[in-house]
Amino acid sequence: MPILVTGGAGYIGSHTCVSLLKKGFEIIVLDNLCNSKENAVKCISRITGKDVPFYPYDLRDKESVRSVFEKEAIEAVIHLAGYKAVGESVREPLKYYENNILGTLNLLECMREYGVRNMIFSSSATVYTGALDKASAKALTEESPLAVTNPYGRTKLMIEEILRDLHQSDPVWNIISLRYFNPIGAHESSLIGDDPNGIPNNLMPYIVQVASGKLEKLNIFGNDYNTKDGTGVRDYIHIMDLADGHVAAMKKLNDCGGGFTAYNLGTGQGYSVLDIVNTFSRVNGVEIPYVIAPRREGDVDTCFADPFKAEQELNWKAMRNLADMCRDSWYFQQSIS
Ligand SMILES: NC(=O)c1ccc[n+]([C@@H]2O[C@H](COP(=O)([O-])OP(=O)(O)OC[C@H]3O[C@@H](n4cnc5c(N)ncnc54)[C@H](O)[C@@H]3O)[C@@H](O)[C@H]2O)c1
Repeated sequence: MPILVTGGAGYIGSHTCVSLLKKGFEIIVLDNLCNSKENAVKCISRITGKDVPFYPYDLRDKESVRSVFEKEAIEAVIHLAGYKAVGESVREPLKYYENNILGTLNLLECMREYGVRNMIFSSSATVYTGALDKASAKALTEESPLAVTNPYGRTKLMIEEILRDLHQSDPVWNIISLRYFNPIGAHESSLIGDDPNGIPNNLMPYIVQVASGKLEKLNIFGNDYNTKDGTGVRDYIHIMDLADGHVAAMKKLNDCGGGFTAYNLGTGQGYSVLDIVNTFSRVNGVEIPYVIAPRREGDVDTCFADPFKAEQELNWKAMRNLADMCRDSWYFQQSIS
């Protein structure tokens, strides 16, 4: 029986679909294409040689979501659809609450109506950042305090709480929340990758656009953090490792009977912004001009995962290194330039 992947045409969703299909799972994609292109779905088929039923629907339109459940015998849902730009969420909180929360509620109601109780939710390391001691350089475990600093993060934390309540109300619900750290890179085919609309918000999409001459230089926000070179340290993870994490989580869902559990998906290794810039230049032989800009509000010195729980319980571990991430990001950018 197929897995419904909401947001399956997006960056993480498309790679996750490839990993699932390669492991023999059947999938259906629902995506309103507000931040992606239908071509990504065609590329998933091209890479895997499998058909991918696609519904270009909006989760806020409950009737169309219901029609998918009516038509397809869905066994589980991987819920990635949502808006994700922190800065935009501060300027337009209602847009974020409407899309991320209402979309999730519609989806959960349809799941309940059609007896689908298995879900993997795309959460984020952002659920920890509001509680971080700014000077601390400790790895984050799933037991670390949760707090957020912006509406985007609040939608993630709220949805985790909604899912916890749902499981509490009916223990048959079987839910895994995956807290992603910082996915970068692309599938080795370069057919799919991170191709954001407009000026990128994240570091690697920005770097590749500087490398290709689309943008003039990189702004590094702050070089006076309490880190080895003063720039912020984060846990970057190869997108295919992250995608494989969903396969591991899906196997776990199939094995266990009910629960709400959160797992960090990260490498456990922190890299600074300058580490990324220097590794990108070394691996790809391209210089990245940069300037130091003021710190951004809400940024912390260091944020990286303790991935032990996922290693132990999901039998999953990130395998690719930073050079792989930089190389695959650049190959993908060249393929679309
Ligand atoms: N990329 C990251 O660094 C990161 C980190 C942590 C968590 N996440 C979360 O992972 C998920 C996927 O992120 P991504 O980087 O692939 O983003 P993305 O924007 O590439 O993918 C999200 C997809 O959801 C679709 N979508 C949005 N709203 C929709 C709606 N109402 N109905 C149907 N489709 C809708 C978009 O068209 C897009 O294809 C998001 O929930 C995001 O918050 C991402």
